[in-house]
Amino acid sequence: MVQQILQTCVGSTLQEIWEEASVCTRCELHRTRTKVVFGSGNPQAKIMFIGEGPGQNEDETGLPFVGRAGQLLTKIIESVGFSREKDTYIANVVKCRPPGNRVPTDTEMATCVPYLRGQIQNIEPKIIVLVGATALKGVLDIKSPITKIRGQWLETPFNNAKAMAIFHPSYLLRNPSSEKGTPKWLTWNDLLEIKRVYDELMSSP
Ligand code: URA
Ligand code: URA
Repeated sequence: MVQQILQTCVGSTLQEIWEEASVCTRCELHRTRTKVVFGSGNPQAKIMFIGEGPGQNEDETGLPFVGRAGQLLTKIIESVGFSREKDTYIANVVKCRPPGNRVPTDTEMATCVPYLRGQIQNIEPKIIVLVGATALKGVLDIKSPITKIRGQWLETPFNNAKAMAIFHPSYLLRNPSSEKGTPKWLTWNDLLEIKRVYDELMSSP
């Protein structure tokens, strides 16, 4: 029992959590990773973006969302006037790349999620954007199709933070049209709503 508790305990400051994650061997993903991808951005940010897990570019650099999908996510974030570096903190549900970019297993997510929870508890974002279906499932245990649930404000157990799920940018790369009603168009509208609520939260005392 004590063993169990020690096993699941992660440090309390962001630095401590990073130190623990950076040498983590709790699941099989550690065997094939190059770098642990912990998170990047402003630890004081009021908005946090959470993705699925590192891809190849992220595994090589140790930074989240830097490949093709990441560049699109950055464009989406900046399209409504956020600065990725100054206004956001970005992390993933799993910190090590699943081989061949497969979806992380439930066990891998459950094993890794204490690190993410620790990040959320330290950063205390007011808004959490769940990037894609895996983040939605990994963070809030919601298994509804992303097409149904995206764009809605969701409650979280994290200090009253609001959450919204959006389409994953790799899905948008496969559906590049931005005509009215398409996934890209919907995502841009979701970001406008997120920015609207963000501005409201920032201007209230
Ligand atoms: N996809 C994700 O979900 N996260 C990344 O960091 C990169 C691609
Ligand atoms: N399927 C997913 O897993 N994510 C999306 O964003 C869209 C479809």
